[in-house]
Amino acid sequence: MMKEIIRIKFLILCITVSFLFQHCSCLKIGETCTDSNCDEGLVCSTCPANGNTRPRCTRIQPTIPTTKVKGLPFNKYSWLTTHNSFAISGSKSATGSDILAPTNQEDSITNQLKNGVRGLMLDMYEFSNDIWLCHSFGGKCYNVTSFQPASNSLKEIQGFLEKNPSEVVTIFIEDYVSTPKALSKVFNDSGLNKYWFPISRMPKKGEDWPTVDDMVKQNQRLVVFTSKSSKEASDGIAYEWRYVVENQYGNGGMKAGSCRSRSESSALSTSGISLVLQNYFPENPNTTESCLDNSAPLITMTKTCFEAAGKRWPNFIAVDFYQRSDGGGAPEAVDQANGQLACNCSSIAYCKANGTSRTCEAPVLSPPPPARVASTGTPQDGNNKSHSNRSKPFHWLIGTIFAAILLIHV
Ligand SMILES: *[C@@H]1O[C@H](CO)[C@@H](O)[C@H](O)[C@H]1NC(C)=O
Ligand SMILES: *[C@@H]1O[C@H](CO)[C@@H](O)[C@H](O)[C@H]1NC(C)=O
Ligand SMILES: *[C@@H]1O[C@H](CO)[C@@H](O)[C@H](O)[C@H]1NC(C)=O
Ligand SMILES: *[C@@H]1O[C@H](CO)[C@@H](O)[C@H](O)[C@H]1NC(C)=O
Ligand SMILES: *[C@@H]1O[C@H](CO)[C@@H](O)[C@H](O)[C@H]1NC(C)=O
Ligand SMILES: *[C@@H]1O[C@H](CO)[C@@H](O)[C@H](O)[C@H]1NC(C)=O
Ligand SMILES: *[C@@H]1O[C@H](CO)[C@@H](O)[C@H](O)[C@H]1NC(C)=O
Repeated sequence: MMKEIIRIKFLILCITVSFLFQHCSCLKIGETCTDSNCDEGLVCSTCPANGNTRPRCTRIQPTIPTTKVKGLPFNKYSWLTTHNSFAISGSKSATGSDILAPTNQEDSITNQLKNGVRGLMLDMYEFSNDIWLCHSFGGKCYNVTSFQPASNSLKEIQGFLEKNPSEVVTIFIEDYVSTPKALSKVFNDSGLNKYWFPISRMPKKGEDWPTVDDMVKQNQRLVVFTSKSSKEASDGIAYEWRYVVENQYGNGGMKAGSCRSRSESSALSTSGISLVLQNYFPENPNTTESCLDNSAPLITMTKTCFEAAGKRWPNFIAVDFYQRSDGGGAPEAVDQANGQLACNCSSIAYCKANGTSRTCEAPVLSPPPPARVASTGTPQDGNNKSHSNRSKPFHWLIGTIFAAILLIHV
């Protein structure tokens, strides 16, 4: 009888422990996963658009480059940027109306920032006696294209800057606001004035920007650009096309092998302009296609644009649905650009600390297993753990618990 009880107890313990094990062990990039068992900074997803039907752990966070290589000018880093950061799937307009406009992202600005997004593209309109984030219909904002007052999102950014005193955020405003000082007011009211990076410190002739360390020290950690030239004088907001070059956005920017500048921008190769922004998203945002767009084609285009920009890696890489990819995605593209910018290595992951030696560390991660499902219908190497390094502590813990139980009861 006693033995029976012990056996049952043991069984329950086994089940509990294996349940714990299931939920605590963290899978690495590329490993076959279920909904919730990927490592921090990864999500479990598929990418049927390029044949990856096996759910696997996929990156959603770039490496924050300043945690790896310090001391460089702002324009020697690359930052993950969300196109239409405010147009979030599933949201309802703050007017109460349903939204009849496309969406480009899937999580809040706070969450985007938490995941390492550092560039935000915001479209601002005068609407309903305030400044709103909105999609244009003939250059105007309507209830059905309006998301929310800009101050809501600006307060999220303020909260992030306050909680993260060594981070720098850049905002690109597509500016439909005609009243002078209206934008300045909404930024001031959201508590962002104290982080303002002044126009007077922005390089005008292609020089390096101040270092990120210096921007942090001076607490000038919010860089803002507008698409309206008059706002420099009226609102103290930098006119983007004096400081940034950009390639064509939309479908025209996704033709393999070609990277031309967008019409508002100086030629990409203009060396008198210090910042380079790479757009890579289609005219019509497409959640199912985006995982493919944000993967190998994005990385290939980054190389094409590097050549077109006078051998300059992008400082900003702007995408739709930044969390979607077939493995590395936009975070990987940003890590690669940072590797090149900071230490001439193929990824920031391989830069030696502070990167002065210009020698690269050997890759520490094994490459993810193949994406495609084999023709037999069984995943190739899908569950072959010898491909990657699973975190080991739980094996030890469980081993120890079992050993202890066996010693006591048997
Ligand atoms: C737009 O939303 C506002 C605020 O909810 C409402 O007062 C107004 O009637 C709406 N306009 C239209 C055209 O639906
Ligand atoms: C915002 O704050 C700055 C700095 O205090 C000030 O110069 C500017 O006039 C303010 N803008 C408005 C519209 O009040
Ligand atoms: C997204 O792309 C897929 C595949 O190219 C296509 O079938 C689908 O219609 C597109 N969806 C939208 C909303 O454009
Ligand atoms: C980076 O490395 C390449 C070859 O690997 C070399 O040609 C180039 O000069 C290096 N650039 C810098 C800035 O060190
Ligand atoms: C990197 O640079 C920072 C400050 O510039 C310094 O405090 C740190 O010791 C350096 N780390 C290494 C490994 O050289
Ligand atoms: C797992 O991967 C290793 C290394 O690539 C290989 O030698 C082994 O045969 C694989 N095992 C299975 C069951 O596929
Ligand atoms: C796993 O990690 C060990 C040391 O931590 C290393 O020697 C080994 O090469 C790694 N294996 C893979 C497949 O990355």
